[in-house]
Amino acid sequence: MEIHADITHISYSEETIRQRVAEMGRELAAEYADKNPVFIGILKGAFVFLADLVRACEFPLEPQFLKASSYGMAAVTSGKVDIADALDVDIAGRHVLIVEDIIDTGVTMSRLRELLLERKPASLKFCAFLDKAERRKANIAVDYAGYVTPDAFFVGYGLDYAERYRNLPYIGVLKPELYEEK
Ligand code: IMP
Ligand code: MG
Repeated sequence: MEIHADITHISYSEETIRQRVAEMGRELAAEYADKNPVFIGILKGAFVFLADLVRACEFPLEPQFLKASSYGMAAVTSGKVDIADALDVDIAGRHVLIVEDIIDTGVTMSRLRELLLERKPASLKFCAFLDKAERRKANIAVDYAGYVTPDAFFVGYGLDYAERYRNLPYIGVLKPELYEEK
């Protein structure tokens, strides 16, 4: 596939992603195979990863979604997190895995953790395809990470900039001149 003109380079190719997601399915099986977990994908970014991840998991599970957004149209987190509290499943006593495209400062996830722990799940863990561990501000451990990645602005495979590029099948670095303020 030809690389999109707004991308400097491909960081994780389709093939790399496919292989890593398959491995993650096996890693998750070791913990969840007999637990019928609830996998909560955080919209919108996680929709692509969750779709691949659930098909890599050969055990019973329940996919669900929650919407969280903190970025608006900017490339840096605003610090304010907006969570549409519309989970239509009772997670009390269930094993819950939060599935994210990327965890950056962790502010979004720590707010979500507070809200979900009030509902008394049997366990609550975090899974993200990309973990920008060095950027973490909140005390959030990513239990299952596809890759720990250095700081860059990535798009594709669900990740957007101003709602664009989510449909790229690979993850690439966006040309900085496209989002840096002039
Ligand atoms: P946090 O609260 O700083 O951890 O923000 C996490 C959210 O920011 C993710 O769910 C993404 O929507 C967004 N985000 C963080 N880094 C990137 C990136 O490199 N590209 C696109 N979106 C990102
Ligand atoms: Mg996002």
